[in-house]
Amino acid sequence: MVRTLKKVKMPPSSIDFLPPRTERTISISQYRPKDTQQTEGTISLPNSRELTLDIIGLSGFDFDFGALDDEDNEVSQAYKGLMVDGTLYPSKFDVVLKSFWKYIPSDILHLVRFLPMKSYMRFRRYTLFMRKFAPEVFRKSESRDDGKDVASVLQRANSAEDPAKRLHPNELYDQISTILLAGHDTTSYTLTWLFWELAKNKSWQAKVREEVMAARNNAAARGDDDLSAADLDRIPILNAVLKESMRVHPIVWYLARIAENDDVIPLAFPVTTKTGKTISAIPIRKGQGIQVSISAYNRMPEIWGEDAHEFNPDRFLGSRGAKQTSVGVFSNLLNFSGGLRACIGWRFSILEQQALAAMLLEKFEFSIPQDSAVNDVKRKPSLVMVPIVEDQPGLSLFLEAKPIQ
Ligand code: HEM
Repeated sequence: MVRTLKKVKMPPSSIDFLPPRTERTISISQYRPKDTQQTEGTISLPNSRELTLDIIGLSGFDFDFGALDDEDNEVSQAYKGLMVDGTLYPSKFDVVLKSFWKYIPSDILHLVRFLPMKSYMRFRRYTLFMRKFAPEVFRKSESRDDGKDVASVLQRANSAEDPAKRLHPNELYDQISTILLAGHDTTSYTLTWLFWELAKNKSWQAKVREEVMAARNNAAARGDDDLSAADLDRIPILNAVLKESMRVHPIVWYLARIAENDDVIPLAFPVTTKTGKTISAIPIRKGQGIQVSISAYNRMPEIWGEDAHEFNPDRFLGSRGAKQTSVGVFSNLLNFSGGLRACIGWRFSILEQQALAAMLLEKFEFSIPQDSAVNDVKRKPSLVMVPIVEDQPGLSLFLEAKPIQ
């Protein structure tokens, strides 16, 4: 399946993939949370998931989910909170149960989805919805013989396979579900952390805005209505803040693997244990679970320097960057993993982040709210690293947004 998925080329060559309604919909009133009493002009950035959901729908599947127009619509609701519900504060029972999963045969394990517990019921509702919705996406793509969207390419790639190796329709439908799940909340939360950093570091925010406006003027001078993907790649400070925020706030914060064989993992930087022993390699057993911490790698002082815990985009502007390593698919960061199983949507996500960040910064000036009740933001490890305001119900990261005249 990975081979079939890799045939799908996610990176578009221009930013035409942004929904035409995006500009119109990015208004403070649209973003104001309905269920909270916020001051005028305060926006809740997790709401950008409606934006990224519509973008992946239109560009990936040529399908308008309409999430921006109606955040209560079925697709939007199916994904809302999915990465967080039940994974942020798991019950003790769930933690113990999951530690036994590896001993349960898979034909029995799948029955856990029927457990009457919140997180399992939430995922079950989601999978039932996707089994109903994904065929609709495929039916629509069948009418486009040479369609370049993911569903059309998947269908063609599957039909070209040896019949014995073809995927079952349900397996095809699951790919829609995977790409939607992997492809919108991830970018949306990444942007949320970026805007949080830019709201705290106003001088960097001003520098990016200046650069974006200059790039916009250059594009207009050559007769273009919009910035191209190449323009966005050539805006240095925009790209530096984006990389630095991803480094400090990787929303996928660890990778999980199971060793196929006994092996020894060499360490680039030896570790000294509490007993004073120096370890330069870790032996592992076949079947052993391994967690690779993206958060830890992205903040290693040996690689990023002594200020590794600070937000300092300068490191991506000069020659500093990462020392000694060459990791992952993007800027020595581990955010998108690396090698054969690296994220297939990384280029798409970067382009999306560049385009949305540029567009939002041209329209609004972002600041941290004065109200201390909403600006005590903590990083919390659910399935993805989410911003949580202590003592506030649900997910929230609020920023003041002042329209730029
Ligand atoms: C900031 C945004 C994103 C981050 C941080 C991210 C991160 C990752 C990571 C770390 C993996 C590897 C997981 C593992 O091997 O355990 C992965 C895989 C994957 N990602 Fe992303 N991703 C992002 C955006 C996207 C987008 C926009 C799409 C689709 C358009 C996407 C689709 C996928 C898929 C399908 C896989 C599985 C690939 C495979 O198993 O070969 N991701 N992503």
